[in-house]
Amino acid sequence: MMARGVSGSGTTPLLCSFFFISWLLFASSSHASSEALKRPPIVDGLSWNFYFSSCPMLETIVSRHLRKVFRKDTGQAPALLRIFFHDCFVQGCDGSILLDGNPNERDQPANIGIRPEALKTIEDLRALVHIQCGRVVSCADLVVLAAREAVSLSGGPRFPVPLGRKDGLSFSINGTGNLPPPFFRTGQLLERFGGRNFDATDVVALSGAHTFGRAHCATFFNRINQTEPPIDTSLANNLSNTCPSAQSPNTAVLDVRSPNVFDNLYYVNLKNRQGLFTSDQDLFSDARTKGIVNSFASNQTLFFDKFATAIIKLSQLDVLTGKQGQIRAKCSIPNSKNLVTSVVEEDSTAQM
Ligand code: HEM
Ligand SMILES: *[C@@H]1O[C@H](CO)[C@@H](O)[C@H](O)[C@H]1NC(C)=O
Ligand SMILES: *[C@@H]1O[C@H](CO)[C@@H](O)[C@H](O)[C@H]1NC(C)=O
Ligand SMILES: *[C@@H]1O[C@H](CO)[C@@H](O)[C@H](O)[C@H]1NC(C)=O
Ligand SMILES: *[C@@H]1O[C@H](CO)[C@@H](O)[C@H](O)[C@H]1NC(C)=O
Repeated sequence: MMARGVSGSGTTPLLCSFFFISWLLFASSSHASSEALKRPPIVDGLSWNFYFSSCPMLETIVSRHLRKVFRKDTGQAPALLRIFFHDCFVQGCDGSILLDGNPNERDQPANIGIRPEALKTIEDLRALVHIQCGRVVSCADLVVLAAREAVSLSGGPRFPVPLGRKDGLSFSINGTGNLPPPFFRTGQLLERFGGRNFDATDVVALSGAHTFGRAHCATFFNRINQTEPPIDTSLANNLSNTCPSAQSPNTAVLDVRSPNVFDNLYYVNLKNRQGLFTSDQDLFSDARTKGIVNSFASNQTLFFDKFATAIIKLSQLDVLTGKQGQIRAKCSIPNSKNLVTSVVEEDSTAQM
């Protein structure tokens, strides 16, 4: 409800409805490209327009900066999408993967290959946004926004993401054990993701993130002579040339058909036994997921829709909202106690 303002003033209701109508128009046009997607439910405390009044240029700033970054280094797009997954799946989407520490979360074995330059990009975004709007946008939200742009600027779907996450005060080394390893079979994958309320369609769609980016030898060396799930001979030969040993620091592309593009060719790879990880290829061996792989391989629109839905779900795992957490002044360190943390607590945007 709009506040009634000063009672007795004849122009107030008119003005109010003017602003209300402009807001409606703005809110709908800003998401026009995603109208086709039925928005999934969002958790309490997050909203589709969280920074509507406190940082209206947010999404433009993020998109404009990342466009420049990706032009110089396309690899930052997959790097940012993976950072998002590894943040959200460990202790929730709280920016914990960004925190320094010795040891820290991001240096754990499950986080092999996290690219430091992409972590720096998040911090650069934070600086740009805080210069423009003040310290009102969380690092956790910037991780989500960067992942969304990474997908859309690489050829994938563009979809809205709910915002309003706060940053956590701690990281969890132990929690990195929740991340699925690449040698998982489908049953283990379904169980691991099922525990967080993701179904088989979600799991197959999310695995489609491996449509771009790279992996280090240690993560797929077991595939080279694997018989179940099978591997294409040509791919096996190439991987064996790339990796003299599992310890080799070399990398291979995740998607041999279009290594830098977000498309559905990942699923075509699986049909040709060219999935890089056991966890990828087994999706086409397991009866519970094979049909979904086929459907995504033949219908990219379907894949994009299911992917967007699953990402929006992933982006809401165990989020901190409202008075929980804080908005970090620097993404790699929690604010010290003497830094006032209540610059912007609940303002009107939270109710939109
Ligand atoms: C299904 C279970 C998953 C497993 C077992 C898995 C495992 C891995 C591994 C081992 C790497 C290689 C890292 C390296 O060696 O540098 C990798 C890369 C990647 N993963 Fe996953 N992942 C999974 C799900 C996801 C999800 C849900 C996303 C995002 C939504 C994702 C996005 C990526 C991206 C984009 C890369 C490439 C990173 C880069 O190029 O820097 N993965 N994944
Ligand atoms: C941490 O790891 C230990 C050993 O794997 C496990 O027993 C414990 O439940 C974990 N704690 C949390 C909070 O995940
Ligand atoms: C795979 O098998 C081939 C042929 O048997 C063998 O020469 C090669 O060393 C094996 N590679 C690995 C990584 O086990
Ligand atoms: C293996 O490498 C050759 C030579 O670079 C390339 O033509 C072929 O497409 C690669 N095969 C796969 C499956 O990556
Ligand atoms: C592909 O999927 C979309 C989205 O679910 C659907 O509307 C469309 O009918 C499908 N196309 C074909 C050819 O099946």
